[in-house]
Amino acid sequence: MKPTHQGRSQSRTAKTYASEGPVSVPSLTVRLGLLSTARINGEILQAAAGSDAVEVVAVASRERPRAEAYAREHGLERAHGSYEELVADPEVDAIYNSLPNSMHIPWSFRALEAGKHVLCEKPLDRRPAEIERVFELAESRGLVFAEAFMYRHHPQTARVAELVRGGAIGRLRAVRAVFAFRLSDSANIRMRPELDGGALMDLGSYCVSGARLLAGEPERCSGEQILAETGVDAAFHGTLRFPGDVVAQFEASFLAPFAQRLEAIGEEGVIEVGAPWLQNRAGDVLLRRGEEADRVEIPTANAYGCELADFAAAVRGEDEPLLGRSDALGQAKAIDALYRAAEEGRAVTL
Ligand SMILES: NC(=O)c1ccc[n+]([C@@H]2O[C@H](COP(=O)([O-])OP(=O)(O)OC[C@H]3O[C@@H](n4cnc5c(N)ncnc54)[C@H](OP(=O)(O)O)[C@@H]3O)[C@@H](O)[C@H]2O)c1
Repeated sequence: MKPTHQGRSQSRTAKTYASEGPVSVPSLTVRLGLLSTARINGEILQAAAGSDAVEVVAVASRERPRAEAYAREHGLERAHGSYEELVADPEVDAIYNSLPNSMHIPWSFRALEAGKHVLCEKPLDRRPAEIERVFELAESRGLVFAEAFMYRHHPQTARVAELVRGGAIGRLRAVRAVFAFRLSDSANIRMRPELDGGALMDLGSYCVSGARLLAGEPERCSGEQILAETGVDAAFHGTLRFPGDVVAQFEASFLAPFAQRLEAIGEEGVIEVGAPWLQNRAGDVLLRRGEEADRVEIPTANAYGCELADFAAAVRGEDEPLLGRSDALGQAKAIDALYRAAEEGRAVTL
């Protein structure tokens, strides 16, 4: 049984709780509203079903009948025929923004202005100034705003970062990352320039995030892109140079069969991650040193469930979200520099 919800007055931030007094925060369920009927919602619904931290209570769609059918199918209490209606719903504490990329910031902004916490799908945006603007608003209202990079919440990711930082492969020298799948449907949001589609935004954002997690913030970026007929990058091949002479190279592609991979190469060894981004596809992690190859033990977990638990704990004021402002800003700066580098045919220094 999920704990019962105790009312809007306890819609919670650390600040609210501090000012209202209670030190021990009761276990409350965050009431989540889905902003759109996007396919990715399925993962959140499944994870929420197994969680006491979050309950999905409402959905919104541009078309009321679609919202109603979706709510019926998934057993949700309320269906809204517009996004405006959902962000104004007083029985919703937080919004899950699963809109196309170009709508992440505008609708997160509207939700925050309406007093809702927001878990927004990746990539937030490629414009650093927009990232600053939306976090300013969240912070000024004492609301949680987090980027939904679910892979960062899986214990595999933390373990790999810990091994690299702990010296398991010696001094880090290079990172290689791949994320690819075939996509030729020009109507897909990932192929639409007006929706901020593109392989770097969609798939490359994982590679950039993974490289930054292991190597810090890049100081120089370069890239090559292959454009689709729609005008978005159907493939993006990027290089990021980090302080300490670490170089990351990645491939993000809608032109190749499915592939995902992350390698951290150190002076004394290599860590190979077979399923770095979609860990429910049986992740395997190998640590190679000389002739030896050891499999690294990784606990089983649902990355989306871990993400929801992290978000809900932040909403309850128990902790900062794992992914905050500085990470989102670093992502946007790197993605923006990579696009500029590819467009201008030169390396871009950050
Ligand atoms: N973290 C992850 O694992 C993961 C995985 C996949 C996707 N994502 C991210 O989640 C977001 C959604 O991806 P998705 O593949 O789930 O998208 P999708 O199935 O295409 O859904 C996007 C939704 O946005 C709404 N929408 C509003 N304006 C639209 C427009 N002009 N064109 C198309 N749809 C529009 C539609 O909902 P209504 O018609 O109901 O209004 C649509 O269902 C993207 O930002 C993507 O990067 C994250």
